[in-house]
Amino acid sequence: MTDSERDELIRSALDAQKRAYCPFSNFPVGAALRSASGRIYQGVNVENVSFGLTNCAERVAVGAAVAAGEREFTAIAVVSRGGVSPCGACRQVLAEFNPNLPIIMVDSLKPDEGHHATLDRLLPSRFEGLK
Ligand code: THU
Repeated sequence: MTDSERDELIRSALDAQKRAYCPFSNFPVGAALRSASGRIYQGVNVENVSFGLTNCAERVAVGAAVAAGEREFTAIAVVSRGGVSPCGACRQVLAEFNPNLPIIMVDSLKPDEGHHATLDRLLPSRFEGLK
């Protein structure tokens, strides 16, 4: 990924974050998932009064991309206050499509200082089903 592609992905996640639906946590999260075709799919957290039904931004981005016919992903940017790391459920869902996916975690207050990781480091020994 070039620097300008990385910046574009972060800008897209920052843009998405503004549309998060999070009246219960007041913790908006924006995600931007780049596909091998070069397109970017955005996601936001979508909360629910029945808290357990909340969907995280990362899984919403995966859903949008897959619904558009995409299955190959090259990077994801996740923006939140503090630049949090994706939850375990989202890691497993992202790993379905790319277990080595590069992840850029960005603090919305310091968007120039993204932290990088790859999914294989965040989710070693994932569940892969019966072999
Ligand atoms: N959340 C995400 O959308 N992504 C993450 O990586 C961490 C948590 C959301 C879920 C909930 O709406 C809010 O952040 C607080 O947990």
